[in-house]
Amino acid sequence: MRIILLGAPGAGKGTQAQFLMKRFNIPQISTGDMLRAAIKAGTELGKKAKEVMDAGQLVSDDIMIGLVQERVSESDCENGFLLDGFPRTIPQADAMQEAGIDVDVVLEFDVADDVIVKRMAGRRVHPGSGRVYHVDHNPPKVEGKDDVTGDDLVIREDDKEATVRKRLAIYHEQTKPLVSYYQSLAEQGVVKYHKVDGTRKVEEVTTELKKLLG
Ligand code: AP5
Ligand code: ZN
Repeated sequence: MRIILLGAPGAGKGTQAQFLMKRFNIPQISTGDMLRAAIKAGTELGKKAKEVMDAGQLVSDDIMIGLVQERVSESDCENGFLLDGFPRTIPQADAMQEAGIDVDVVLEFDVADDVIVKRMAGRRVHPGSGRVYHVDHNPPKVEGKDDVTGDDLVIREDDKEATVRKRLAIYHEQTKPLVSYYQSLAEQGVVKYHKVDGTRKVEEVTTELKKLLG
């Protein structure tokens, strides 16, 4: 199964990815997590990406396309993959098409901007694994600690309200056009497209995904 998760920052892509990767036994390819790992490791890519990400801007298409093409060709992607945060511009989607990287399903998570701004204030993440929590809506078993490793959870650099608003503006401008891009591919029978109401509780969204995907 090859799945694309499409949706604004904070729409719940990373949260539902935890369920989907187990359900279909496919790796989550979160381009945001890959970039954050590169920053932590101090690589050339990390150095280039840090300032851009902290400002809520997008890293260049060339870099992202190269990164994802390399990643999907690894052996653990033979069964499929879950793309979380890519493609996020029309050129990124075109590059996938041109490279012959087909997908089966596009899942769009629909959440209003004001709900997102509130959500991001409560987000906590486990940097090592990318697991995501929310202080109220999806709390860890022990406050401030990852459920699996017990490591400390952290607040993402780009979750400051002003940066979240900037990311939302960029989403509407550069990523939202992918909704009609994939809807028209769905009309041609090239992919399946499902729009999911992402404002409901985490478990309710998961239940809907189970219904949709089997
Ligand atoms: P990335 O890490 O991809 O961030 P994003 O797309 O902005 O999405 P988020 O991770 O913020 O949100 P999410 O949808 O995963 O929500 P989550 O499940 O965490 O990218 C970061 C940056 O990297 C970009 O800004 C850019 O600079 C760069 N980048 C990455 N990919 C790129 C690309 N392809 N091209 C160019 N640049 C790229 O949930 C959010 C919070 O809400 C959590 O606290 C969660 O617990 C809670 N929550 C989730 N679901 C619910 C629910 N149903 N009800 C209540 N709370 C919920
Ligand atoms: Zn995420």
